[in-house]
Formats: sequence, C-alpha cells, structure tokens
Amino acid sequence: MAEDIISSDVLIIGTGIAGLTTAIKAAEEGFKVNIITKGARPEESNTDNAQGGIVYKGEGDSKELLIKDILEAGAGASNPEAARILAEYGPQLVEEILINKAKVKFNRRKDGKFDLTEEGAHSVRRILHADDITGRAIERGLLNYVSQLKNITIFTKHIAIDILTLQHHCKNPIFVYKKPEALGVYAYSMEEKRVKRFLAKATVLATGGLGQIFLHTTNPDGATGDGFAMAYRAGLPLINMEYIQFHPTTLYHKDAKRFLISESVRGEGAVLKTPDGEEFMKKYHPLGSLAPRDVVSRAIHEEMTEKGYKYVLLDLASYMDAEKIKERFPNIYKTCLKYGIDITKEPIPVVPAVHFACGGIKVNMWSETDMKRLFAVGEVACTGLHGANRLASTSLLEGLVFGYRAAVRIKDKWEELKKELEIPVAWIDTGEFEPDPALVNQDWITLKHIMWNYVGLVRTQKRLRRAIYDLRHLWWEVEEFYRKAKLTKQLIELRNGILVGLIVARAAFRNRESRGCHYRKDTQQW
Ligand code: SIN
Repeated sequence: MAEDIISSDVLIIGTGIAGLTTAIKAAEEGFKVNIITKGARPEESNTDNAQGGIVYKGEGDSKELLIKDILEAGAGASNPEAARILAEYGPQLVEEILINKAKVKFNRRKDGKFDLTEEGAHSVRRILHADDITGRAIERGLLNYVSQLKNITIFTKHIAIDILTLQHHCKNPIFVYKKPEALGVYAYSMEEKRVKRFLAKATVLATGGLGQIFLHTTNPDGATGDGFAMAYRAGLPLINMEYIQFHPTTLYHKDAKRFLISESVRGEGAVLKTPDGEEFMKKYHPLGSLAPRDVVSRAIHEEMTEKGYKYVLLDLASYMDAEKIKERFPNIYKTCLKYGIDITKEPIPVVPAVHFACGGIKVNMWSETDMKRLFAVGEVACTGLHGANRLASTSLLEGLVFGYRAAVRIKDKWEELKKELEIPVAWIDTGEFEPDPALVNQDWITLKHIMWNYVGLVRTQKRLRRAIYDLRHLWWEVEEFYRKAKLTKQLIELRNGILVGLIVARAAFRNRESRGCHYRKDTQQW
C-alpha cells in the first residue's frame, strides 16, 4: 500500500487567484506548500473564466471613492473594514504580484497608460483588463510564476473530502475538550481511486464558488460548493449565504451553457433593450444599464415575467464600431459568432444567471476562520466585503489581497503553528456499492431545479419552505447512500452541493428582509 500521508507546512485547496497568491507569498517566505485541485489541469478555476477585469485605480480616483462604491453596491451590509483594506492594499498588490511577478499583460493605450474600463456602479473608470479574458491572463501568469518556485507542489485530480480536525479524526477522546484545530484534509485521488491524508501546519480553503447548485450559472463545472460544505461539517460558521449574486447578462442560446457577456460590454456603452426595442433600465435606476447588478438582474426578470419575453437584448452594435468591438471583445465576439450571433451587427439575447456567492466561511481581516490553523480565501470566504451585493470586478482583487494576507498571518504566527501535529486516523472505507450514475445525475437535476425555482432571483416564504423540505429529504437520501457507496468525485460533489443548497435555502428563509441580491417578494424591500 502506497503512503497515504502527504505533509507540508501549508496546504492549499484550490488553484484560483486567492489560493495561488497565498501559495506564492508562503513559498517566498520559505514554507513548503502543497496545493490540491480536483481539476485535471491546475488552471481549471473560476478565476480562469473571469472576463471583465480587476479593480485598480483610475483618474480622479481615491480610496474613499472606491470604498463608497463598494459600500453602496453592498446595500448597507458590507464590512467597511474589509473595503478599507481592499482599497488600501489592492493597487500595490496588483503591481507587485500580477504586473511584476506574474507578468500579466493588461491592455494599455497608445500612450502606454493602462486602458481602464468601466462596469456597473463604479464612479470612475478604474478596472484593468486583458482583452475580455482577464481571468485567463491572470491565472496563466500566476501559474507560470508558481512553476518557478521549487517549494510549491500541485496535486491535480485530488478532491478534498473533509477537513481533518483534532476533535473529529484523532483517536484520543479527550481532544474533544481542546480548541478546534485543523490538521489538513482527507482527499480522494481520482486516478489512484483511494483516499489520502494531506497534513499541514496551516490549511487554506480556496475552493471557489457554488454556482453549479443552480440550473443556470456562469460558473465552471467545478463550482459545486465543496469548501462551504466541508467547513459546515467541521462546525464553522457560514455567514451571508442568502446573498447569491446573479449576473444580469449571460448569452441566451439553446446550445450555449450560460456564457457570460461581461459587464464591461455595458461599461463600454452597450444598452439593454426589450425585444420590442424599449430601453427599459432607466425606469428602474438612474444609472440605467450600468445600475448595480442586483437591480439590473431583477429588472430583466420583471420585464421577462410581465411581458412573457424569453430574454432581453443587449445592444452593443448600435454604440460601438465593428472593428473596435472585435478588438475590445475578441472572445465574446468569437463565441457569439459560433452560435450564429454577430455582435457587430445585431443585439445579443441575454438572461440573468447565478454568478457569485457573496457570503461564505466567516473569516477575520487576516483570512483566519474560527478554527485554529484553518484559513479561507476567495469566494468561499466571507470577509464581509461584498455585503448583500458585490461590486463588479472586486472578486479577483479580494482573492489577491486576502490570499496574500493569509500567508502573512501564517508567517507571523509560525512559532505557534510549527509545533508537531497529532496524526489523524486513516480513512475508513465508505462502502462497496458502485454509485449508479443515473441516480447521481437525477439528484443533481433535482437540486438544480429546486434551487433555481424556489431559491432564485425572486424568493417567497412558501417557495423557501418547500425548498428546505425537498432538500432535507434529498440530503438524507444522499448521506445514506454516501455511506454505503464507493467514493467517486461525482458523489463527493453531490453530497456537498445538496448540503450547500440547504444552507443557502435556510439562510434565505430566515432572512425576511429584501436587501441587495436577496429579494423576498413577500416582504418589505430594504
Ligand atoms: C464581468 O465581466 O461582468 C464579470 C466581472 C465580475 O463578476 O466582477
């Protein structure tokens, strides 16, 4: 039997901007870092899919102005301290990590200055972009830099199952009286088909989002809420989970999986119209098509339900010259063309889809969770920055700033963290049954429909009650099945997805107040 314990100083789960930034800073401080990802390739992450950009600093911009925009978009529920830290340290970390180390080629104007773009609810143009594939440029740049750091090892095709804790996974029964402590994770190797113990003095969850628990999402297939579920099972508090942000504009086409049409398309002048040609957004908000995302998504939903439209239109062709469109949005242009839509000549049919979890594992301003040795960064964490609705292009920056701060904290606390770990018990086999893919697929379909119809853009007490009832039943069935079946990646993800669906539905049920992207039709709007 091959060795099933793999140790490092720092263990990171996930390879998006947040996890890679923690890894880089930790490795540069001299720590041995292991990263695990369930992707077959390290670049498989939400970051790789991001289009619009990352907040930097614009002309006439200031920290105060950025903080004001973040807090306004957050609908009164953002943590001002998180906004202050982001505004204070964001630009210098963009320069240090992304521009100087990862060598990301953000677009520049002819005079050599950055070509800053605009998105909804920003007071000035302050967003760096790399064409319309900013995330891909960042992800590849970071991975290239990581490959030069000898003390970082990436394990692909390894899916984390659960956080190993002193209380739950060590033999000595009196450990239950100690302060909760993370020792690493159990992870399933998809190639070797066995479970390993990844142990570390500090464990960092950087597992990204949960969009796949909904029927329509901009998120990649891997966004099944794994980190949220692992943290919940380990007893950690999750906060703001009802605030699920919809992106207003994703491509509506029968063959396209909700392809994102970046908000920067509206930032560069595109206007939302009904299929009858009416510019409807001014009716809903003075900023029109550039209103905060929650407002735009609900306005589209309202137009669609009231008038029976299947989609609305995003018209760029009338406002930007064809050559400029191809140059500024090459990926969106090519992708839409593949589906028979020439965006230089015609408007794009769009609908809202789930995009981002504003809540997550509660962390402090150094990315520490309530459990000793356990950190969370990026979308899975909740610093409170996004409040009830995230300002566009702040998620990559949050991953960068708070990913960096996690590594700084690990270094600062090293004297305390470096003591020898207890060794948790080896994995106890789950079961012998081969999971039936038909059942697993059907459970996924059921989950996605429940979340979309009952826990979606417009919520009511009745819908949420029904969602909780149905999800509880599904959760029970799958937990039972999970204990008897052989492990597979699909089964681990399903177990996580259903639990996270339940967490979101319960949070939405408990919160009767409409605020930001949590909209309760049956209660007063905030
Ligand atoms: C977009 O390009 O519209 C996405 C940017 C973001 O979600 O912040």
